Amino acid sequence: MIAVGSDHGGLELKDAIQAALAARGLDVDDYGTDNGDSVDYPDFAEKVAAAVSRGDVELGILVCGTGIGMSIVANKFPGVRAALATDEFMAQMAKEHNNANVLVLGGRVLAKDLAVKMVNVWLDSTYEAGRHQRRLDKISRLEKDVRAGKF
Ligand code: RB5
Repeated sequence: MIAVGSDHGGLELKDAIQAALAARGLDVDDYGTDNGDSVDYPDFAEKVAAAVSRGDVELGILVCGTGIGMSIVANKFPGVRAALATDEFMAQMAKEHNNANVLVLGGRVLAKDLAVKMVNVWLDSTYEAGRHQRRLDKISRLEKDVRAGKF
């Protein structure tokens, strides 16, 4: 199961991505938005990131105008590794090195065809673990320390 969410700036691209995910036979949970009215990206990032953080879904995709706002919000959630990518290489690295469980894209930055290719590259790539796991473990430790008020 994969969750998708966008604001008005990412709606068109979210629709294109959903079609591509359906074409791959994936079950998609759409957390909105569902029309072009101006909305606040934190509300939609929250829904998708919370679902990933709780383990309700394995992966999420968030789209706003630039992807920046969605990334900032999603990375507040424990266990969420949200990666803002702007090309296929970044989408590949987001999985291979960062094991990103949320891919963030900019609807006003990327052509639809490229964005769909990036989603497919991210889904088809495999986390390499090894030395990268040591780094992810450090991120998990930091999350705990921040929550414990260590800083
Ligand atoms: C909305 O206009 C825009 O600020 C939003 O989509 C996003 O780009 C924020 O980071």
